[in-house]
Amino acid sequence: MSLSEVESLKEQLKVARKEIKNLRKQITTLNYTQKKEIESVRKILDDFKCQNCRNIVQNNSIPPDLAAKTAEIKFSPIGTIKTPFPEKRGVPRQASISTQIEGIIDLNYDTFNNPEHSLEGLEDFSHIWVIYYFHKNQCHAKAKITPPRLDGRIGVFSSRSPHRPCPLGLSLVEIIKIEGSKIYFKGIDMVDGSPVFDIKPYVPQYDTPSKEISHPEYFDLEFINAREAPDGQETTSDCVMASTSQAFSSKPMVRVPNWVSNANTLAVIFSSKAIEQMTELKIEFESVKQLIENDPRSAYLRTKHKSQIFSFQFSEATITAKFDDSNNSVTVVQVRKTQSTL
Ligand SMILES: C[S@@+](CC[C@H](N)C(=O)[O-])C[C@H]1O[C@@H](n2cnc3c(N)ncnc32)[C@H](O)[C@@H]1O
Repeated sequence: MSLSEVESLKEQLKVARKEIKNLRKQITTLNYTQKKEIESVRKILDDFKCQNCRNIVQNNSIPPDLAAKTAEIKFSPIGTIKTPFPEKRGVPRQASISTQIEGIIDLNYDTFNNPEHSLEGLEDFSHIWVIYYFHKNQCHAKAKITPPRLDGRIGVFSSRSPHRPCPLGLSLVEIIKIEGSKIYFKGIDMVDGSPVFDIKPYVPQYDTPSKEISHPEYFDLEFINAREAPDGQETTSDCVMASTSQAFSSKPMVRVPNWVSNANTLAVIFSSKAIEQMTELKIEFESVKQLIENDPRSAYLRTKHKSQIFSFQFSEATITAKFDDSNNSVTVVQVRKTQSTL
């Protein structure tokens, strides 16, 4: 290729880049205009509320302006979670009890042009909070629910039930690696395809309410100091004194009810057939053990139905286990490749 051809190509590239930049600017402007138009249409619709609706808002003593703004808050997901669970059945109840199972958060390209930029610095953290949408919920929220570990009912806000008025999940997971717009992580309690709304780094200094310290001689000054300056606003001596007196308190600051803290795991046994099948399918024993030792059955199945046989899909396989409630044990009877339903 001659020098003049190279020069001409360079010139064309320059023009193309300029065009792309202009197009991006136009898209941003159009987005902005469209947003404004939607807002103004929404405002018009809100102002046209029937007299009865207005009375309801006023009777609830929420300022009408605020009521209009908060009646429906719209957010778009920033990405999607990929997990080995195509359906809800068998999904671990908390990410902290499935530390061997891996997933991927894949950020969308319509939130930021370069989503990888939004992840810069995250590799310095070991864990993240993931806020996601329970998109596979089929029943609606009820004020009282029965958690799997409790033979009774409690208020939905005292539980981690996915059936809540605002169906958002909050999970603490461990980062394995970050590549481009993808976060590979360990700790799964989400169905495959769950939309993600936010990701925040886990910072023990902010996210741990207190540390149980029963003897003053074990007082961990470094921990308390670390808690003092999360955003540079809590460095007065008053704050230090307040934290110090809390730390010396013999009372644990974190409380959970017995039905949470007394949760026992089941003994897991693998049948020889399951061992053979898992070896063939290259499925890790530890992962399957984690999935069933915490009893994936719902309270309904376990207590009302007394179901002993339970099957669920994990990646490409269908796992079948037999529970023995009188012995607190469970046997993995079969792990076979899931048959396609197509
Ligand atoms: C008990 S919730 C806890 C979630 C989160 N760690 C929390 O505390 O908010 C986890 C359960 O929600 C259900 N689940 C997970 N992802 C879901 C989704 N996308 N749609 C509906 N249900 C889902 C599964 O049954 C899973 O076992």
